[in-house]
Amino acid sequence: MQTSPKLFTPGPVDVFPETQAALGGPVPHMSDPNWVTRYHETVAMLGQVMQTAGDIIVMTSPGSGAIETGLASLYKAGDTVIVVRNGMFAERLVQILTQYRCHIVPVEGTWGEAIDPAAVEDALDNHPQAAGIAVVANETGTGVCNPVQALAKIAHARGLVLFADAVSGMGGYSLPVDEWEIDVLATSSNKALEMAPGLGILTVNERAWAVIEHNPDAAHRGWYYNLLTWKQSRARKGFPFPSTPPTLLIAGLHASLTRILTVETLQGHWDRYCAAQQRVRRELSALGFAPLAADNVASPTITCVYKHPEMETIEELRDYLLADHNILVATGGGPLTGQIARIGHMGKASTDEYVDALVDGVRAFLMR
Ligand SMILES: Cc1ncc(COP(=O)(O)O)c(C=O)c1O
Repeated sequence: MQTSPKLFTPGPVDVFPETQAALGGPVPHMSDPNWVTRYHETVAMLGQVMQTAGDIIVMTSPGSGAIETGLASLYKAGDTVIVVRNGMFAERLVQILTQYRCHIVPVEGTWGEAIDPAAVEDALDNHPQAAGIAVVANETGTGVCNPVQALAKIAHARGLVLFADAVSGMGGYSLPVDEWEIDVLATSSNKALEMAPGLGILTVNERAWAVIEHNPDAAHRGWYYNLLTWKQSRARKGFPFPSTPPTLLIAGLHASLTRILTVETLQGHWDRYCAAQQRVRRELSALGFAPLAADNVASPTITCVYKHPEMETIEELRDYLLADHNILVATGGGPLTGQIARIGHMGKASTDEYVDALVDGVRAFLMR
């Protein structure tokens, strides 16, 4: 019997038994040939999910560590960076870039809407010295997908690079890194890759490496959260890490990706998320909880819904679901504090069993 709550949070997520079993196994040693094989298989499977033949780096870190690594490696102090600002995690990009003494040009968007690429073009026209663009691909604060492919085209037309935070997007829907020419993308293990927290994952293309290698500010980036450190260790045969790799977590990710790619198929995995998203949007709307995002920009991995008109704050629903149904959902931040519930579709949250439990719980809340 499940005693921990059913997780509908947009990370961490409830993982499947194959992943749980791998995480419960013995801690592998990084020089054990079986583990080395598993590591290389894991990177190859990540390449399939991320749809890239470019470089993939797997580090021990939360999503923010992967984001910091990408931003600090691409941009240097004094650089002007255009940041799409339309949600809670856009603020994280601003904070990190500020810490690295970059000059931020925010492109302000409405929370709950995708950014208009024309607004980014305008910002570039007004700031021709800009070094690049940073965007949250899948804004977990609002449940909205930003137009990453269009932004990559805009960046490249001006010889600039695009950084995308896909922490809550990658794995949950098709985000083809090579086809969309995303220069550096950061994600993490504990969302749509359906694993425990602890792995930061980055893709880096040749355009990005050229920028990173010519960045004269390398000394200020630190060591671990610096893509050059990773590039140098990747060139070493046998031990392509700068320091002790998270062997057990990588074994867990191997189990999770194997399940996604071979048991479920990547398309089947995306379809499961999509079906859960559509059902939650439909059923919660019918119960009086209107979705925040319009259909055409709604994230497949997280749905945000406004509180029912008769409620004071959304926290009433969150507290009730946890106390009476052992279900954990997230709520909104920033201007949406008290206004929205954030419901993830990642991991087991996209199974029929979980969606049934959620809808039943919300219905019971209204009938109290
Ligand atoms: C879009 C996005 N970016 C960044 C983060 C930060 O990730 P972490 O908490 O693993 O550092 C999150 C976490 O939810 C996220 O959803």
